[in-house]
Amino acid sequence: MISDKMCKALNNQVNAELFSSYLYLSMSSWFSERSLSGFASWMRVQAQEELSHGMKIYDYILERGGKIEFGTIEQPESKWQAAAEIVEEVAKHEAKVTGLVNDLVDVAFAQKDHATNIFLQWFVAEQVEEEASVGEVLERMKMIDGDSAGMFAMDMELGKRVFTAPVE
Ligand SMILES: [Fe+2]
Ligand SMILES: [Fe+2]
Repeated sequence: MISDKMCKALNNQVNAELFSSYLYLSMSSWFSERSLSGFASWMRVQAQEELSHGMKIYDYILERGGKIEFGTIEQPESKWQAAAEIVEEVAKHEAKVTGLVNDLVDVAFAQKDHATNIFLQWFVAEQVEEEASVGEVLERMKMIDGDSAGMFAMDMELGKRVFTAPVE
């Protein structure tokens, strides 16, 4: 059985992952409305990934006999000036999520909850990958600096990324 404190912290993370999904879907719609379909597809894939992260934690809470608590999902931002601004916000958001995951690990340690600690290691590793992946896009966006040929090439490339469900 999971402690109330750990359970509450994990429920909060489900909410945070679902918010991430909602934020990335909002970003995806911004790109779709501007015919940047590769960027839109990339963010849509990100939104699916965040939803799967939330569900992974949801399933874990149930598996440990914890209670699922639903909260309000915050309204995501929807007005941006440029594609680069969105990519920058994704990078900042992922860094913030990494902080949340680290905080969860701290709770697991404090609660001597070894099972949750092991479970969370997947998320620790995932955040390294997420930050690296968006960091690369951000660096390239800086190189492109709004150049239309560069944006076209980037849009083509991002459109190739596909969603792969996390392995158990
Ligand atoms: Fe996530
Ligand atoms: Fe993420």
